[in-house]
Amino acid sequence: MIDPNAKDLIVGVVGCGAMGQGIIQVAVQGGLTVVAYDAKEGGAAAGVARVAERIDRMVEKERITTADAEGMKGALSVAGSLDDLAPCGVVVEAVFEDIDVKRALFTALEAVVAEDAILASNTSSLPIGSIARVCEHPGRVAGLHFFNPVPLMRLVEVIQGPATDDAVIDALVVIGDRFGRIPVVVKDSPGFLVNLGGRAFTTEGLHLVHEAVATPAQVDAVMRDCGHFRMGPFQLMDLTGIDVNYPVSMIVFEQFLNDARLRTTPLHRALFDAGRFGRKTGQGHYRYDDKGGVIDPPSANHVTDAPAATVVHVATEGDAALGDLLSRLGLSARADDGAMPILAALYGEDASGFCARTGTDSKRLVAIDTTGDTSKRVTLMTAPGADPVARDAVAAAAAAAGIAPTVIQDSPGFILQRMRAMIANLGCEMAQIDLATPADIDTAMKLGLNYPLGPLEIAEEVGVARTYAIISAIHDATQDPRYRPSLWLRRRALLGLGAHTPA
Ligand SMILES: NC(=O)c1ccc[n+]([C@@H]2O[C@H](COP(=O)([O-])OP(=O)(O)OC[C@H]3O[C@@H](n4cnc5c(N)ncnc54)[C@H](O)[C@@H]3O)[C@@H](O)[C@H]2O)c1
Repeated sequence: MIDPNAKDLIVGVVGCGAMGQGIIQVAVQGGLTVVAYDAKEGGAAAGVARVAERIDRMVEKERITTADAEGMKGALSVAGSLDDLAPCGVVVEAVFEDIDVKRALFTALEAVVAEDAILASNTSSLPIGSIARVCEHPGRVAGLHFFNPVPLMRLVEVIQGPATDDAVIDALVVIGDRFGRIPVVVKDSPGFLVNLGGRAFTTEGLHLVHEAVATPAQVDAVMRDCGHFRMGPFQLMDLTGIDVNYPVSMIVFEQFLNDARLRTTPLHRALFDAGRFGRKTGQGHYRYDDKGGVIDPPSANHVTDAPAATVVHVATEGDAALGDLLSRLGLSARADDGAMPILAALYGEDASGFCARTGTDSKRLVAIDTTGDTSKRVTLMTAPGADPVARDAVAAAAAAAGIAPTVIQDSPGFILQRMRAMIANLGCEMAQIDLATPADIDTAMKLGLNYPLGPLEIAEEVGVARTYAIISAIHDATQDPRYRPSLWLRRRALLGLGAHTPA
């Protein structure tokens, strides 16, 4: 077994495209020696030249010294043929995403490198086991999955295939760390961790729009303002490109044998088929100008010139978060006079279900989502047939208090509760299937997707029991297996345990 801490460890990088260049850069930045190879004539030299340019730019920006840069560039060399990779202790492959290309490469590499050298693939979607099966020593084959752009994305997933030796995984964790990345160990499973975990955010946003609960702009605004996500799911899809995220969604869905939790919607496919890929084509969920600005950005705010309510009846008495919100909205709770708006803080239940269960007047009920940050925006929801007067009076009170009202159609869990419950539930399921440790699931989702909290941390913030109640209520209302609670979440909720409690 190679020594991953060896000062003179030589790293081979095969495939010097977008990812290969990033991997070469972080390896030399980490003080390692790199030999780069590309099958395309001049490809490795061009890739290495590009890395050298980036290193020079770091000197210009005074991030590193000239001496550092010379050291890094001196550690770079171009392989004329695969044979030049013979001295490498580890080879990282970033060639085309094609199983036959990768298998042929790994077979060829085994004939070149020492028997104890590690062979790692940067594949995003091919099972490590399906690459390793053609190898004579499958125990040394693993995944080392970087994120684009590599120098800026600190996460690296270390993927343990069915045959990968534990010592190889341990060594890759050390090497990932030497590359200046934060490694998390993940089982060989469709989408690995981040590309699976990220499905909840985009597909649940799409389901909210599919059901005509809310517009993309409303979902995005609520996720930003109330959930503290850097971007909403529709902004994110348009940024990464629907030509990328639709196929990834379908691959992960199909490889999980059509698990409803991962199901996307016809709108996603329609945009893909229409070539509306997002920013890169000028149109996706939004329309863009040449500079990437959104044309005529749709508003997420409910506009009304109705007089603001001052008194309301509260149908969910004793809810502390609602009490706090009422005072911030300047609303006083009174006995029902038969005409005033009726407010209710709902958790997973839709307005219709609440009215039917409690006998509340559905014409005057205005349901409020009290979860998340309600200092800038608040989500209001009514049942079918509701009187807009009650809704507008509450919306006007919010607007007068400087809190933007987002008004949506009836939905179990509004926007934020549904989105966060789905993210948390999928995170719990990833823990249940032992994809990675609970702490690593959180770390990977925060670093790989810029989430403000990891999925299990979201369950903690919302409350484990409440998250379970929300997802269960959505499941009851919809009868859709998409919303079935993860057993990981259920057990911890029933026992009053934290979301990170190990099995
Ligand atoms: N682009 C991303 O966002 C991203 C993120 C994570 C992982 N990945 C994975 O990384 C790998 C590379 O992706 P990319 O975006 O850098 O692709 P790319 O097309 O930019 O680069 C691939 C490079 O590999 C070279 N190549 C192809 N076959 C080869 C072979 N047999 N031997 C040597 N070189 C060969 C090509 O000449 C090219 O330079 C893929 O497996 C991809 O799934 C990509």
